[in-house]
Amino acid sequence: MNNPETGKLNDTVTHLATSGSLPAHIGFVGTGNMATAIMGGLLAAGYEPDQISGGDPSDSAREQWAARGITALSVDAADVIAEADLVILAVKPQVMQAVTHSLRETLKKDAVVMSIAAGVTVKALQEMFQNSELRVVRCMPNTPALIGLGASGLFASAAVSPEQKQQVGSVMQVVGTAFWLEHESQIDAVTAVSGSGPAYFFAFIEAMIKAGEKLGLEHGIATQLTLQTALGAASLANNSNEPVDILRKNVTSPGGTTARALDSFDRAGLSKVVSQAMEACFDRAVEMSEEYK
Ligand SMILES: NC(=O)c1ccc[n+]([C@@H]2O[C@H](COP(=O)([O-])OP(=O)(O)OC[C@H]3O[C@@H](n4cnc5c(N)ncnc54)[C@H](OP(=O)(O)O)[C@@H]3O)[C@@H](O)[C@H]2O)c1
Repeated sequence: MNNPETGKLNDTVTHLATSGSLPAHIGFVGTGNMATAIMGGLLAAGYEPDQISGGDPSDSAREQWAARGITALSVDAADVIAEADLVILAVKPQVMQAVTHSLRETLKKDAVVMSIAAGVTVKALQEMFQNSELRVVRCMPNTPALIGLGASGLFASAAVSPEQKQQVGSVMQVVGTAFWLEHESQIDAVTAVSGSGPAYFFAFIEAMIKAGEKLGLEHGIATQLTLQTALGAASLANNSNEPVDILRKNVTSPGGTTARALDSFDRAGLSKVVSQAMEACFDRAVEMSEEYK
């Protein structure tokens, strides 16, 4: 997990399998993009393919997992979760009800069920499984998990034991960094910050590339300069002992070029624009929780 004082990221992928801190068996319901990212992170961390099972109606999705050495695969996830100490629901929210219906019979008694679907609450999952004591973890990951640089927020229902929380946290750490949240409603805030966050940065990067071209650079050069600057700025902020506002001030000489650009952002209300967009995202996440009740 991150250092909560500094917010800085600790080392991400570590060899956890030998420390015994991961669940003994993990069953994936849905083996699409996000599930594949987590599965890949687990294998990279030394988890064995025979500790993983997956259910997915998509032939191509299962074939990709088979190519990684996973043999416990089925069209119907209910066939492959009986051994799982952690069941990861990695399907779209729209199919959650139908999926959980078939899992009720085979789910191990004390297993933790972790959902990564937006808007599906702990209560809704407990109702779908017809078990008010169901050990549920809600997780909001993001797409950089695909390259091991994800950021996730996690919330656990009361029945999840401290040991199970530690194990689930370790699972999400194999694809980046993860924070435990105290309140379920904070999942919607995580959605607004990091869940949808990559798209905000992509939009900003697109705008910078276009502006660079308008100022006379070739598309390829504007793209590479912008991407390297985004990567460098994020890495510098993450590795520096200085807070981000000091880093910004350090590169802003009074009366200079950067100051002129930042003044322009201020006049256009950048801070307000970002805040409004994130509130809109948060409101949509709350709305979705109502829709999938
Ligand atoms: N990608 C993100 O940035 C992100 C971030 C946070 C949370 N999430 C959430 O993570 C979840 C998965 O997203 P994803 O991007 O990984 O989606 P995805 O690539 O579409 O994967 C979902 C997989 O579930 C399969 N599926 C459909 N019905 C199923 C069933 N009854 N049993 C088992 N598998 C079934 C799908 O097969 P078919 O293709 O044949 O339907 C597909 O292979 C979603 O709820 C999403 O909201 C995603």
